[in-house]
Amino acid sequence: MNLEQEFYQVFGAKPEYRYRAPARINLIGEHIDYNGGKVLPAAISCYIRALVSKREDNIIKAYSTNTKSGSSIEIYSIKYDEAFSWCNYVFGVFYTLRSSGYRIPQVGLNILIQSEIPLGSGLSSSAALLDLITYIANDIYNLGIPLKQIAKLAQNTENSFCGLRCGIMDEAAIALGLRDKCLLLDCAKYEYEYIDLDVDDYTFVVMKTNVPRSLVSSKYNDRVDECERGLTAIQKEFDVDNLCQLEEKDLPRIKELIEDEVVYRRVRHVITENARVASFIHALRHKDIQKLGELLIASHKSLKEDYEVTGQYLDAIVEAALNAGAVGARMTGAGFGGCAIALIKKDSFEEFKNKVYNEYYAKTHLEPEVFNVDIVDGPMKEEDYAN
Ligand code: GLA
Repeated sequence: MNLEQEFYQVFGAKPEYRYRAPARINLIGEHIDYNGGKVLPAAISCYIRALVSKREDNIIKAYSTNTKSGSSIEIYSIKYDEAFSWCNYVFGVFYTLRSSGYRIPQVGLNILIQSEIPLGSGLSSSAALLDLITYIANDIYNLGIPLKQIAKLAQNTENSFCGLRCGIMDEAAIALGLRDKCLLLDCAKYEYEYIDLDVDDYTFVVMKTNVPRSLVSSKYNDRVDECERGLTAIQKEFDVDNLCQLEEKDLPRIKELIEDEVVYRRVRHVITENARVASFIHALRHKDIQKLGELLIASHKSLKEDYEVTGQYLDAIVEAALNAGAVGARMTGAGFGGCAIALIKKDSFEEFKNKVYNEYYAKTHLEPEVFNVDIVDGPMKEEDYAN
C-alpha cells in the first residue's frame, strides 16, 4: 500500500497535499546553542513526510504510519496530555500559533505522518516534526510566516508545550536548510549565514549507535540548569549575558568563582566548544582537513569528559571510526546515545563502513548503521494533488 492509499484508509478522504522536512546533523558547536554560542548544523537527506487534507469541522486528526497510532483534538481546546504521546508535537504547534496571535480558521486537518528519521537518534526527529507541522499550518492557513520565524515558533512549542528546554539550533537548521551549505547560526543574536560544505575528496558520514535512549529530556534539562548555575556564579564578577561571551583565558578566574566542580566542567566545555566552532569555520574555509579532524576529536573529548553526554556506545563508535581511518569523529546532537559523524575520504566509504561495523559490533554486540547523506534544502511542499 502506498502512502496515498494509507491516507484514504485512515481518514476516508483523499490527500490534498504532500510536504516534507529534513533531519539535521551538527558539525560542531554542541550544547552551546542554549548558551548563546555559534553552531554549525546542516539539513540532511533523511525526511519526515506528511500527507494532508482539509476537514469540514475544526478537528486536527493525526496518524503515524511508523507507530500505527494517532489521536484527534478540537483545534481551539488543545492541552498537553501524556496520552497523546507523539501527537503532542502536532497539536502543540496549533496551540503555539494561536497563543502567539495567529488567526487559525475553523478548518480542521487530517495529517498522515511517515518518518525516515529514526526516533531518538540525535538527528532531530522532533524538531523536524515541529517544523513540518508549523510549515504546513503556515501554508494551508496562509499565515505568511517567514522560515526564520517558523523555526522560532517550532522551538517555542518544544520548550513551552513539550517541556524540553532546547535551544534554537535544530529547528533553525531544518527550517533554513540549504543544499550543500551548512548554517553558521549565532544563537544569541539569532542571525545566520551559509558556509559552503565542500571538503574536496572528503565527506561527512553518519553513524548510528542503535542504542535506545532513555531519560534524555531530563538529563538534557539538567545540563541547561547546570549552565545557568555556572552563569549566575560567573556574573558576580563578569559582565556577561551568556557563557559564550567568555573566553578560554577567563577559565582560571571562573574556576575560583564556581564552587561545584561538575558545574565548572560544564562551563569549560561550553567555552572551549565555542572557540572550536570559530577554528572549525576557519579550517573549513581553508579546506584544512587535518585541523577539521582534530577539532572534531577535541569536541567529542570535551563532551565526554566535561559535559558527560556521550556514554559508552557513542564513545565506542567514535573510537571505531578513528581506528577505521576517519580524520575525525564526534557525537552529534544531544548525545546519550543516538548518532555520531565522521569525516572520511569519499572513496574509502565501503571499507570504512565494514571496519566500523566489525569493531563496534565486537565491542557492544549492537549493529551500527553507517550511511552517506546529502546536504539538502529545508521543508517544502512536494505535491499538490489538485494540480
Ligand atoms: C538537542 C537540542 C539542541 C541542542 C543539541 C545539543 O538536539 O534540541 O537545541 O542543544 O541537543 O547541541
